[in-house]
Amino acid sequence: EKIVLAYSGGLDTSIILKWLKETYDAEIIAFTADIGQKDELDGLEAKALATGASKVYIDDLRDEFAKDFIYPMFQAGAQYEGQYLLGTSIARPLIAKRMVEIARAEGATAIAHGATGKGNDQVRFELAAAALAPEIAVIAPWRLPEFREEFPGRAEMIAFAEKHGIPVTASAAKPYSTDRNLLHISYESGVLEDPWFDASDAESKGMYLLSVDPEDAPDQAEMIELEFAQGDVVAINGKELSPLEVMEQLNELGGKHGIGRVDMVENRFVGMKSRGVYETPGGAILFAAHRKMESLTLDREVMNLRDSLITRYSTLVYNGFWFAPERLALQALVTESQRNVSGTVRLKLYKGNVIAAGVKSPVSLYNPEIATMEADPTQAYDQGDATGFIRLNALRLKVNSGVEQNQK
Ligand code: ARG
Ligand code: SIN
Repeated sequence: EKIVLAYSGGLDTSIILKWLKETYDAEIIAFTADIGQKDELDGLEAKALATGASKVYIDDLRDEFAKDFIYPMFQAGAQYEGQYLLGTSIARPLIAKRMVEIARAEGATAIAHGATGKGNDQVRFELAAAALAPEIAVIAPWRLPEFREEFPGRAEMIAFAEKHGIPVTASAAKPYSTDRNLLHISYESGVLEDPWFDASDAESKGMYLLSVDPEDAPDQAEMIELEFAQGDVVAINGKELSPLEVMEQLNELGGKHGIGRVDMVENRFVGMKSRGVYETPGGAILFAAHRKMESLTLDREVMNLRDSLITRYSTLVYNGFWFAPERLALQALVTESQRNVSGTVRLKLYKGNVIAAGVKSPVSLYNPEIATMEADPTQAYDQGDATGFIRLNALRLKVNSGVEQNQK
């Protein structure tokens, strides 16, 4: 029997690797998606093999992640509960997709993951797998009573690791848990569980890896120009870049200026509230820039319609329905809406802020000749028409007002 495990090299998935192998007497294929977690990947293959994996896949999915997951989601303007740019949520379906591909290629009967039974990630992995490969079973050790009995706490896990020669790295000792990829780093649990714990103070400075504290950011603002084509950034400061290169460069720029930190209490799909801290430097710039580009190029009613669907879309991504038919249907609408979201946005980056500094487009819908307070050379707008426009719109308000008055 073969099991494909989503492996990160951390304490949890290392223990799970060993435990699965012993418990199911199975061959364990360790799979790690490189989606931009940088030095977390160092030494991973050797570690997985030393822990007992029969085979290791470390697949570079960064281009696909940027192009087919991050970009379409930003076209939709997605943001969960008004703040979270969905950095972890959007990565899970991609990991699951590649995991079931490997399972099929290897003839594995099951996939396994180290997400807990209390979180969102289990749902995202498993809904994606169900949508793509319903024949493959899922093993979630954290939901199995026998696993939880064996590992009721950190101490038992560390003891198990030592007994089996699994190196316990410094990250296992951090007082919070993290998830890193090209779009963000998330920080949760541990000391962060208290929402009164100040994650912005000096003591917390060492936690952040992608961005400086806005107070420590340069006193000199930095101007950048982003070029959009059909809703996607295709160049920065005149240089054409791939989606992956764009994200990397925006992370660099945003991080330098302390942009994109979020500290919130969010609603998990499984019903509980949870405190999350996020660093999303590049995503925060992209999000702001995209909205600016749309302001010039999106038709009012198309914008209205798309905006009315942002909550729906974001909730689908957060809850793990990336490969669901309703997300694909929404995406088709989003793609159509972006046909003319093209042009250039100029932004000033300054101490945690993304400041608008100009926007232009060859397909702009903004017509200063129509909007001007001066004489309108186009004659497209007759101010006299506004009288009838207001009168008809006022009609029902007047009728309603009469009814209200009579009731007094
Ligand atoms: N709360 C965020 C979300 O649900 C981040 C989850 C982080 N996951 C993790 N395994 N550390 O998307
Ligand atoms: C986990 O519970 O495994 C991480 C947090 C989450 O999935 O929401």
